[in-house]
Amino acid sequence: MKNPDLSEIPGKTSSLLPWGDLMAFFKNYHRFKQKKLKKYGDIYKVRILNREICTLHDKDSARYTLVEHDKDFNSKEAWDLLLKDLFPNGLMLMDGKKHKHHRSIIAEAFKKKPMEGYLDMMKNIVPNHIKKWNDPHPKMFPLLKEFTLEIALEVFFGIDKNQQFTKINKAITDIVDASSALPIKLPFTPYTKGIKARKYLVAFFKDLLPERKNNPKKDLFSILATAKNEDGESLNDEQIIDHLIFILMAAHDTTASTQTSFCYFLAKHPDWQDKLRTEAIDFYKEHGDDFTAKDLRKLEQFGLALKETLRRFPPLTSVGRVATKDLNYKEYSIPKNTHVSVDIEQNHHNPNVWSCPNSFDPERFSKERSEHTKCPYTYTPFGAGAHYCIGFSFAEMQIKYVISTLLLSHEWSVDQAYEMPVQPVPLQVPKDGLPVRMKKIKRS
Ligand code: HEM
Repeated sequence: MKNPDLSEIPGKTSSLLPWGDLMAFFKNYHRFKQKKLKKYGDIYKVRILNREICTLHDKDSARYTLVEHDKDFNSKEAWDLLLKDLFPNGLMLMDGKKHKHHRSIIAEAFKKKPMEGYLDMMKNIVPNHIKKWNDPHPKMFPLLKEFTLEIALEVFFGIDKNQQFTKINKAITDIVDASSALPIKLPFTPYTKGIKARKYLVAFFKDLLPERKNNPKKDLFSILATAKNEDGESLNDEQIIDHLIFILMAAHDTTASTQTSFCYFLAKHPDWQDKLRTEAIDFYKEHGDDFTAKDLRKLEQFGLALKETLRRFPPLTSVGRVATKDLNYKEYSIPKNTHVSVDIEQNHHNPNVWSCPNSFDPERFSKERSEHTKCPYTYTPFGAGAHYCIGFSFAEMQIKYVISTLLLSHEWSVDQAYEMPVQPVPLQVPKDGLPVRMKKIKRS
């Protein structure tokens, strides 16, 4: 597709280089962004390979693009750039009526009853797993990533560790890694490995599907295989498998990344680590093993600290869309077919919205201060509008359960001078894996 005319949008793209701004963008995204913001203000264009992208960093960008003009933007074309070969029929790669129809069926898997089923399954895995964490110097990201995968195998697919674990584990790791790699289809690139892994997973789940349909259990695969929306419509076999694989990708690194950032902030702020540990101890004293997803939602201090973690380090730092008609945004024309990128992370740090935006201050989300309600849609870690994250309550449930269980048995710390280096695109992850000092605690 020919690039639309973006001459009105400020910015000069490095036109002589075939890859445009790609290298500078990936090499040091924050430095790249700050330079552009200083030079051009909060709306400017960049060029990634042969595509010019209009990047919006101002506080109204998410409201305009994702909510008020939702219907004038297309999600599929934007995500196709990165994900087309890996997840051709994922929910985020659909729009309009088709998206609404598929979403209404998938939403069945995130209602109260299935959610309680997922939590029951997690209860069989989480405490036993964490008990075995004995390394005094673990790297939190790889540890939490592997743990998230183990939870996903059981809760999403109903596969326990003994069933073909190694092969499926490798395929899932390959496809998840490919989704945050550059879409370069050369032999041995992560993207090519991801395409191969997809083929393996499709065949694997196809074999399992009749069993999940005829003998459904509590796992997400069984729920999707048998889900019907309010009009009694269901998904066909191919669609069930495509959505399942997409959900795995959408859930995996985002959850592992958030848990890692959560651990980082609790290590940097021992007062908050103590506060949440006290809340966790009281919670499990009151409920023992007999608690629901709704009970977990009532962990108030956890809620504040998790919100603040997602503000400081949203796993998806930006989301993309493509204009389906000529539009006007503020004083700029955005022609049809323009690729637009909404900068979630920048909105989360806008000094006109947040007090001391670079500090970790969970109380800013308290009822009294409610900074997040000052300017609608400047806080969007789970997106907004039609594509709002369908798994957000699943994510919150899992993160609160894992971190509260960890706090009961372990203490961890980093040097006060340590600042976690992050690689913010395509997904925000720590460059060093977040090494911590960790010890088990004895409680009477
Ligand atoms: C902290 C963890 C998570 C974060 C920060 C997150 C963030 C997001 C964001 C920003 C979007 C919107 C993307 C867009 O508008 O283009 C999204 C969509 C989506 N997420 Fe999540 N997500 C998380 C966890 C999960 C989990 C656990 C699941 C499933 C179990 C999930 C499934 C999905 C799906 C299926 C979509 C597409 C929705 C649609 O297009 O209608 N996510 N997520």
